[in-house]
Amino acid sequence: MLTALKGNIIEALTPDTLGIHPHSYLVLEDGRVVGIYPVLPDALGSASVTDYGDALILQSFADMHLHGPQYEFMGTGMDRPLLQWLEAYAFPTEARYADPAYAREKYRILARDLLQNGTTQVCMFSSLHADSTLILMEELEKAGVTGYVGKVNMDRNAPPYLCETTEESKKETLRWLDECKRFTLVKPILTPRFAPSCTDELLTFLGKLKAERNLPVQSHLSENLGEIALVGQLFPDCPQYWEVYDKYGLFDSKTLMAHCVHSDARERAAIAMRGVHPVHCASSNNSLMSGISPVADMLREEQQVCLGSDVSGGTTLSMLHTMANSISASKDRGSLQQDASQALSIEQAYYMATSAGKVFLGLKPGFSEGELLHAVVLDDTHLPKLPNITLRERLLRAAYRLDDRHIRAVYSEGIRRL
Ligand code: GUN
Ligand code: FE
Repeated sequence: MLTALKGNIIEALTPDTLGIHPHSYLVLEDGRVVGIYPVLPDALGSASVTDYGDALILQSFADMHLHGPQYEFMGTGMDRPLLQWLEAYAFPTEARYADPAYAREKYRILARDLLQNGTTQVCMFSSLHADSTLILMEELEKAGVTGYVGKVNMDRNAPPYLCETTEESKKETLRWLDECKRFTLVKPILTPRFAPSCTDELLTFLGKLKAERNLPVQSHLSENLGEIALVGQLFPDCPQYWEVYDKYGLFDSKTLMAHCVHSDARERAAIAMRGVHPVHCASSNNSLMSGISPVADMLREEQQVCLGSDVSGGTTLSMLHTMANSISASKDRGSLQQDASQALSIEQAYYMATSAGKVFLGLKPGFSEGELLHAVVLDDTHLPKLPNITLRERLLRAAYRLDDRHIRAVYSEGIRRL
């Protein structure tokens, strides 16, 4: 069936290029993108058109790093740096997800709120509990949110109430992988929490499993100076943090590494060479006082940087706000260094919030022909109609001034979900 969405269509084609289509038609066949046209071609004239007037039709968002069980305490507990914050807030909260009924209630709310914010693609950490991880996957799939979810592995440097034995961690990971075969929209991703929380034996197991089953991996890298010092003590044979993951075969083009705030030139060269995808989480870096990431430099080095909310180190689920936060943080870095080239553009922020995540998920940037539609309709028509304002400027303004209240429609996998 032919359908079309009409409005001001903006796509993120490259980190520096927007595809801007004023008052155009985004034509779909059975939910798959046929093309974007300023005037409906005769051959597509039978398409039933949903006219969104002067609203913005954007790609929906890909949040490439967040922690499902942490959503419930978002906005609280922001008074400590990473390692103390984990002990005080994150670990006690995650422990509650040992109870599947509790997980069901919370994850249903999270799935709904993601969709309401226009996020249809995710890479998410669950907790170490396999059953609750399956529940999270189920709730996301029901809502139409796609992507990867990982059961967290942690067998050391964790409190007794939130720690697996190495054997349990292996066994539960295998059971979880078997059971997630039933999902179609949400797939498993191996998730060693971060180097300090995994023994050599567990990392060895995960590296082998990745190789055998061709699985993607997500973890944290060089977020915080205390964390980096701890990794140095725990892995004295690895001169740099990334070498821990690399040693176990967990550092390649199917790997997401959250943060990379303190990655120096050598670590960044390794990230670029291996094709690892860093995930920038500006709100979290601010809340946990981790530092200000050199994202503009990373993009100049052609790293495939994505954005993440990092809920609940981060304080918002909104990827619009996450885009604005990443621009703001880059300007703080620019101010501190008196270097204007540190500032991110709206092109870069929008690309990192959408297409960069799609690419990690195996898709193409933009509204790519043949792909199932992932889109969000954003209504900014209540804002001042400034003379000569461009669609590019309206996109920037949307990042700073709009939120879930202004989302008129959300499409995922070719289907209107909201
Ligand atoms: N490093 C290890 N675990 C976490 C977590 O839950 N949040 C953040 N921001 N960093 C981590
Ligand atoms: Fe995180």
